[in-house]
Amino acid sequence: MTREQILNYLKSSDESQLETLWQAADEVRRREVGDAVHLRGLLEISSHCIRECHYCGLNIGNTALMRYRMPVEEIMACAHEGLSFGYGTVVLQAGEDPGLTRQWVADLVRRIKGETPLAVTLSLGERSEEDLAAWREAGADRYLLRFETSNPALYQRIHPVLPGGVPDRIALLRTIKALGYETGSGVMIGIPDQTWDDLAADIELFRELDLDMIGVGPFIPHGATLLGQKGAWTIATEEQVPNTELMTYKVMALARLVCPSANIPATTALATLNTPTGRELCLSRGANVVMPNLTPKKYRALYEIYPSKACIDETAADCRACMHGRIRSIGREVGRGRGDAPRRQLA
Ligand code: 5AD
Ligand code: FES
Repeated sequence: MTREQILNYLKSSDESQLETLWQAADEVRRREVGDAVHLRGLLEISSHCIRECHYCGLNIGNTALMRYRMPVEEIMACAHEGLSFGYGTVVLQAGEDPGLTRQWVADLVRRIKGETPLAVTLSLGERSEEDLAAWREAGADRYLLRFETSNPALYQRIHPVLPGGVPDRIALLRTIKALGYETGSGVMIGIPDQTWDDLAADIELFRELDLDMIGVGPFIPHGATLLGQKGAWTIATEEQVPNTELMTYKVMALARLVCPSANIPATTALATLNTPTGRELCLSRGANVVMPNLTPKKYRALYEIYPSKACIDETAADCRACMHGRIRSIGREVGRGRGDAPRRQLA
């Protein structure tokens, strides 16, 4: 698929053209990864963060937010609960928290791998190659790190420069891949000043990086961040990518076409824009994974990356029942096993 074709779909409002896109994505999804929808239990293990990302509610400047770090025993109990729910994967996600030391995370991964058959996915931000290698050694299977945007100027605008210079997430993703992790990345859609070309280049980068997992969601303004303020949008309206539900489906469908065998989740950010039917629509337009929240209810409201996040008032059991119902309602089946990337299953 050429840049021109990608741009064409991104900008299209022609219903029959979009219907063609949804069908193409659905067919490729069925052919490449089948009808099973894999469940990844999401555990938000720490809301501490030392970074200042201008879009994220967990940024260090948000001093109004009470922070938590889950104790190991509690994490283990949640992992076992996920296993009893039939999940094949636990995703350990956190802000960029140096309190999660190399050793602590390695020990945790070893314990989960020793006590359960779960695949372990880490989503702990930009960490050193030594950390990443130690965790892989401990048995971690997958790593998620969104590059957020492929445009370096926009990247710098939304991430303040650190003393060591601008970190290169794309280089880090290549390192993660070289360490043998199944590698996931993605972007936000409709970041202030994100242009159509930027987004088309993001989709081309998914293809170039040959990602195993692709997570995309709409940018949702958070009042406690710089990009959550009205003045954040400065480019002409016709150049700005809208942060809408429709744009998110388009990017998801195109991601499926450029990375046919990737695991693509129906994300919580999209479900936040359309709670009644958003996940179902994702699953019929290219997605094949859902990430039910396993985090204990008492912590959920504190992991407020963006406002009105879906599943804040639910328990882990609620989310399990909800996801099962949604998957069945569209005639798909709940995945069994770990739901590894298809090329790993061949290896
Ligand atoms: N709106 C939507 N998505 C966000 N993320 C962070 N802040 C926001 C926001 N305000 C996404 C980023 C990050 C992931 C964990 O959550 O893409 O990588
Ligand atoms: Fe949490 Fe639907 S997945 S309530």
